[in-house]
Amino acid sequence: MLHGRIMPQRWRKALVGLDIGSSAVKAVELRRGRRACSLAALAVAPLPAGAVHDGAIADRDAVAQTVRTLLDGGGFNTRAVALALAGNAVMVRRIELPAMSPTELEASIYWEARQHVPFPADEVALDYKVLRAPGSPDAARSTAVLLVAARKDRVAEYTGVVEQAGCTPVVIDVDVFALMNAYELNHGRDAAAVLALLDVGACAASVTVVAGGQPVGTRALPLGARSYRDALRDELGLGTVESDRILQAHLGDAPVPDEARTVLRSVNDRIVAEIGGTLDHFRGSELVGEIGSLVLCGGASRAAGLADALAARQQLPVGLLDPFRRVQGTGGRYANERPLAAVAVGLALRQAGER
Ligand SMILES: Nc1ncnc2c1ncn2[C@@H]1O[C@H](COP(=O)(O)OP(=O)(O)OP(=O)(O)O)[C@@H](O)[C@H]1O
Ligand SMILES: [Mg+2]
Repeated sequence: MLHGRIMPQRWRKALVGLDIGSSAVKAVELRRGRRACSLAALAVAPLPAGAVHDGAIADRDAVAQTVRTLLDGGGFNTRAVALALAGNAVMVRRIELPAMSPTELEASIYWEARQHVPFPADEVALDYKVLRAPGSPDAARSTAVLLVAARKDRVAEYTGVVEQAGCTPVVIDVDVFALMNAYELNHGRDAAAVLALLDVGACAASVTVVAGGQPVGTRALPLGARSYRDALRDELGLGTVESDRILQAHLGDAPVPDEARTVLRSVNDRIVAEIGGTLDHFRGSELVGEIGSLVLCGGASRAAGLADALAARQQLPVGLLDPFRRVQGTGGRYANERPLAAVAVGLALRQAGER
């Protein structure tokens, strides 16, 4: 499994998976047993609006303070953290190169990358993984490589903010790799399966197609809980408190007015159409077999009617990624955290350096 080792240390001691999202920070520490892992600590803290914007840290002091308070209060055993880059801070692309040996590849990858990375070469940290190794049946024809390019300024921004919070960044990962690891831990790997992981968060959604446990492609879309809030404000003049009450209505018994239902339905349709377009884009590439199922996570993936609308439009089974399904000691608990914790769990798994 690819590590996205922008910082290439192996870290064998305890670490905290820290997912700094645009609405909240999520932190998870796992304890590894011989057969399974258990939850050592879990905490979620909201961020002030605008503190993280479009994957960039806009208010460093606020984010650092939130991280510090979160880790101080949550029973965590370490301040070593694994972080994730997301959205436009990082580019993940599968490329096909002529068949070559690992040494030749090492020598040429940085030149090859320049054609694919949309940033100046000295502004990115590069990493790669060979997806189809020489020696496999079609390796004589070409070498498939997964290329990861992270913007150095974003890496510095994220490491700087956690250092300010009193933590030591020991791993920098890519959010969608963390998601894949969380999925595999809890739902296993099926070598024949092609699935799409969909993380619908506060401001962004990621769509990642995974075939046989390997990423085929990933794309970030500017969609999420904000899409629902913006629509409720623009169409019905609702403020944040009122729109949050409507979004969370399924958790309680608060009635949702018909006109709000109509707005939610139209946002669902828009999100479903955008995700569908992205899936079609991946389907158009020769690398993707038939997508067999969709797996949802992220806070806004629980929006009323969204999963059903996706299933109906795609004519595919839609499941939920439960990041604690195979994490001992979590049974029946953490209903509110489960949809939000997948990236943090995937990051926490980096502890043993083997995933
Ligand atoms: N039922 C719901 N419908 C729509 N949105 C919801 C619902 N429940 C929670 N949310 C929203 O989910 C968001 C939190 O999800 P999550 O933690 O996955 O986002 P994030 O990681 O902070 O954001 P991003 O990934 O976009 O940076 C909040 O904006 C919250 O309002
Ligand atoms: Mg997120």
